[in-house]
Amino acid sequence: MKTVNIGILGLGTVGGGTYEILDMNRELIEKRIGREIKVAKVLEKNTERLKALGLPEERATQDPDDILKSPDIDIVVEALGGIEPSTTFMLTAMENGKSVVTPNKAAVAANFAKLKKTAEENNVEFRFEASVGGGIPALTAITEALAGNEFTEVMGILNGTTNYILTRMTDLGLDYDEVLKDAQAKGFAEADPTADVEGIDVANKLSILMALAFDTYVPPEEIPTTGISKITMDDIHAAKEKGCRIKLIAQAKRDGDHLNYSVKPMEIPDSHPLAGVSNEFNAIYVTGNAVDEVMFYGKGAGALPTGSAIVGDILAIAKNL
Ligand code: HSE
Repeated sequence: MKTVNIGILGLGTVGGGTYEILDMNRELIEKRIGREIKVAKVLEKNTERLKALGLPEERATQDPDDILKSPDIDIVVEALGGIEPSTTFMLTAMENGKSVVTPNKAAVAANFAKLKKTAEENNVEFRFEASVGGGIPALTAITEALAGNEFTEVMGILNGTTNYILTRMTDLGLDYDEVLKDAQAKGFAEADPTADVEGIDVANKLSILMALAFDTYVPPEEIPTTGISKITMDDIHAAKEKGCRIKLIAQAKRDGDHLNYSVKPMEIPDSHPLAGVSNEFNAIYVTGNAVDEVMFYGKGAGALPTGSAIVGDILAIAKNL
């Protein structure tokens, strides 16, 4: 059986979750794709993380080139987060003939065209399903199963941390700071949660969704964005009195040749399906001129749900190697 060698950059929440799934479902994966998927090298200096996952220390390196330029690595999983050095690492990997998988929405949204072009030029694959909606396979659906549609609208709840905070504030009356700490402890929040609570993370995800659904790239910093850091219990009570819940909503809608887009907290009526999307769950509504309305729902953050999307991308690439 052919062995496909993986290099993982970063064994944090998502890199660790990816390793865990490959280990937990090893036999099933081998049976499904007829390949052994081996995590041959990881870029990680925290030996506690290696131990916790049962990874031998000799498989770890602190030199990215041991993965990016190694002739033994077939696929690189970039799970470091942040725009740089992640983008440079991904480009180097592709220039060295490796396919790349990433959950890194900030890097994908900032450098969408360059990353796609470099993959094409080097005849490798670049997949980023986990960058939007965690474990929800919405990007693959938009680019494959729904590819025959002209899309008119994309709308959704795209951040697990803020949805978790708003849900706990609304349902349990808990304090904002306390719930944010809880979301960090559960591995939902970014290293710097400003990106979550100020809506920047959602703007990155909406930028990626628009590039795929509307073939229109809008840099995330050009998307009008308001986060949830100024939402108070008074706002939440006022919404409740109107039969609504406050949700952080990303929306992009085609109006003729024009595209309107925004990220902002909105009062969603209790009867609307998005009002029932709670905690770290995400939901993505897509309207196409053939399929009409489709809604995707699932866990938008966390080690295993996000790892699930990464492993799906790895297997899609590995099958064709
Ligand atoms: N911080 C992100 C969230 C992680 O809370 O949704 C998944 O992209």
